[in-house]
Amino acid sequence: MIHNRTGKKAANCVTPCPMTHSLTLRRPDDWHLHLRDGAMLSGVLPETARHFARAIIMPNLVPPVVTGAQAAAYRDRILAALPDGMAFEPLMTLYLTEDTDPADVAAAHASGLVKAVKLYPAGATTNSASGVSDFDKVRGVLEKMADIGLPLCVHGEVTDPAVDIFDREAVFIDRVLDPVRRATPGLRVVMEHITTADGVAYVQAHDRDLGATITTHHLIINRNHILVGGIKPHYYCLPVAKRETHRLALRAAATSGDKRFFLGTDSAPHTDPNKESACGCAGCFTATNTMSILAHVFEDEGALDRLEGFTSLNGPAFYRLPANAATITLTKGDAVAYPAKIHTGDGDVTVFDPGFALHWQVLPG
Ligand code: NCD
Ligand code: ZN
Repeated sequence: MIHNRTGKKAANCVTPCPMTHSLTLRRPDDWHLHLRDGAMLSGVLPETARHFARAIIMPNLVPPVVTGAQAAAYRDRILAALPDGMAFEPLMTLYLTEDTDPADVAAAHASGLVKAVKLYPAGATTNSASGVSDFDKVRGVLEKMADIGLPLCVHGEVTDPAVDIFDREAVFIDRVLDPVRRATPGLRVVMEHITTADGVAYVQAHDRDLGATITTHHLIINRNHILVGGIKPHYYCLPVAKRETHRLALRAAATSGDKRFFLGTDSAPHTDPNKESACGCAGCFTATNTMSILAHVFEDEGALDRLEGFTSLNGPAFYRLPANAATITLTKGDAVAYPAKIHTGDGDVTVFDPGFALHWQVLPG
């Protein structure tokens, strides 16, 4: 709901209406998040828990979270790292390997622990060496997941060295995603962190059992931001940002109100030395300022009234979970101050810089 300064409901007030200063949303969820472990987990968890009620937790630890028992132990470590007074529910995932046991997956789902299984093509990204190369070997797991309605979260990039990095998502859709979905009717799939107009079009063309997450940073940067005027390691992530036409397609999809698109920040902390390196890690850390950035984007697109769907309603609907009852309120005012870096026991992590001042702020509480 959008309010003006007098507190009166102003539902028809669309940007650039100067009267829109306050926005109350159901508390958002993050449908794709990296929290890591140990000191890094403790350092970054409050950044998400401050604004988000729940998050789908990525399993790409070293070693990866493969079994239900490992997911339960990781969930306990996350809850133990949560500062007193903060509420947050980690929604756990299992990392799909060629040895994953369908019965273990089914039991972890039945107990309520696991909300999705994550598919990384082997070698696609950070800590994905245990991922899948031979899809015939995971057919049994995928069929079980289709039976029980457990979503498969897909990192959608081929790893064939012959395929250009900027084409890997589009090629994955044709070579892997579409064949897997056809071979496994009823399998519910989340195309994660889509970065291309091709990804948007594939989702729009399929009504059933398909959704997609979009990150905050892919709504802001294109590939020029990474490479023009000097290399910017803090804008390097996987899938890598594409050309401007793709960024515009993502913005259109995210702000369209289409329920198949929802927020998955892919906030992925790496310490500064690991980013600012001759071989820097992939990942943008957006947990701290995501809601401010998204309010800015949706206001720019004249779609503030659709922000709640993207951050708080469409994801729960796909995952068949209730939307959060609690709310958050954002207000618009002077430039918002947020830290340039988060200090963790592992070292500093640079917060994503959108390249412009932010004016929407989440009220504390
Ligand atoms: C992620 C990470 O660092 O774990 N990096 C990234 O650029 N998104 C891995 C991933 O989700 O691909
Ligand atoms: Zn990720």
